[in-house]
Amino acid sequence: MDVNVKCEALVNIAPLMDRNGDPVHAHGGHMLCKDGYYYWFGENRRDRRKVSCYRSMDLVNWEWRKDVLTLDSPVKTIYHRTSLELEPRDAENRGFGTGAVIERPKVLYNELTGRFVMWMHWENGRDYSDARCAIADCGTVDGEYVFRGSFNPVGNMSRDCTLFQDDDGTAYFVSAARENADLIMYRLSPDYLSIEEQVKTLWPGQAREAPALMKRHGVYFLISSACTGWLPNQGAYAWAEQLTGRWSPLMPLGDITTYDSQPAFIVPIAGKDNNQCSYLYVGDRWDPTDYYASSYVFLPLSFPSDREMSLDWVDRTWIDPCKGIVAVECGTGSGLFRMKSVGMELYLASGNHSIDPDEVHNLEVRTLSYTDKQQQWRVDYGRDGAARLRNGEMTVAIGSENSLILVPTLDQEDQFLWLLTETEEGSLTIGSRDGRVLTVAGEKRNGWGCVSLEPKHLHDPRLGGDPQLFQLISVR
Ligand code: GLA
Repeated sequence: MDVNVKCEALVNIAPLMDRNGDPVHAHGGHMLCKDGYYYWFGENRRDRRKVSCYRSMDLVNWEWRKDVLTLDSPVKTIYHRTSLELEPRDAENRGFGTGAVIERPKVLYNELTGRFVMWMHWENGRDYSDARCAIADCGTVDGEYVFRGSFNPVGNMSRDCTLFQDDDGTAYFVSAARENADLIMYRLSPDYLSIEEQVKTLWPGQAREAPALMKRHGVYFLISSACTGWLPNQGAYAWAEQLTGRWSPLMPLGDITTYDSQPAFIVPIAGKDNNQCSYLYVGDRWDPTDYYASSYVFLPLSFPSDREMSLDWVDRTWIDPCKGIVAVECGTGSGLFRMKSVGMELYLASGNHSIDPDEVHNLEVRTLSYTDKQQQWRVDYGRDGAARLRNGEMTVAIGSENSLILVPTLDQEDQFLWLLTETEEGSLTIGSRDGRVLTVAGEKRNGWGCVSLEPKHLHDPRLGGDPQLFQLISVR
């Protein structure tokens, strides 16, 4: 790290607190740079849905400004054919509101009108069947936004979305259509308050979510995730020389879970002193078992060439507002891993929460949780490349009747040794000395399943995944 760096580091630890000591609730969000401040807009699900706005000069210290759009915000039409129902009434529930869903709010400043325009994903609060976009606008960046209605753009479904402003001020809206199968790009009208034209369908049928767009050296980059709900997956990027022209195929970005995050947005950080621009990736680390424990991941994007993008893990990033990203630091890591089943989006876990060593701990699989220490493993390699799989003080072993248990480690015993064998795709089988492998078995109920030891079998890839394959993901 550069010793001359004076600024505070942006640290990837959860939770991120604002200056009042409250957790920052700004998920699926967007940042806008205005008058020396970064304004961060995002989803806030505390109580009823709203869009919260925070601001910062250094991207480290965040000041809560206002809940700029709530389900009680003023509503006023501008164009016909939009629904002004911000929160529908539920006839079956004595006319109470349904608590509409507002996701992925994005805000741009329109130079021509002097107004700030927000686009977002809107649902009725009962289900995800409306799949509409919605618009709100305001004369000040962090004032009270007026809801301008929701609609299906050009009649399309519209879910995960982003906004992008090109150098000439033209704005584009990109959203997931056709039950998330396609990403569709629309050019907005000069006032940003309606769609002028549907201009492009991106990667039809490839089911991309969480789009975010940027431009560097005249080349556009779009990053996105696959579609696995709150569970993280391998991110991807693509590039194009013209927004509405030919886009490259999707190429992997980050690791197999995008470092346990899903893209929210990319912030360009323009160095005033050095005329350089750096780009910061901001992702949501959704917690699938506890939404309120969701946090963020901040990582610098790097560009090996003008058409390549890469995202590496760092623990800390130093951002000098006058120079951009000036330094990064990556620690030695926790040395712990999560073991994700390729078959079922479930994670290997020690099944007993008791710390009493006399109690039998089974091996099971559970839905991802970032706080569940039972899902965090140490892999200790020993003789002949065989490894012990350790969870705290306990080690995976074969118990009676071939059950899989965790017991306190006895160093010399072979029953604790497992062979981790890598496949060509980078997944692993975890094998016992008699050639059988750990297999996610039994019914998967409420995000839980059991694990057994089975002979290796050929799995039909058309069934999706493989219950005998696992992926090791670093705990960060
Ligand atoms: C995906 C989307 C989010 C949200 C969740 C809901 O993660 O990217 O914006 O809609 O699904 O399951």
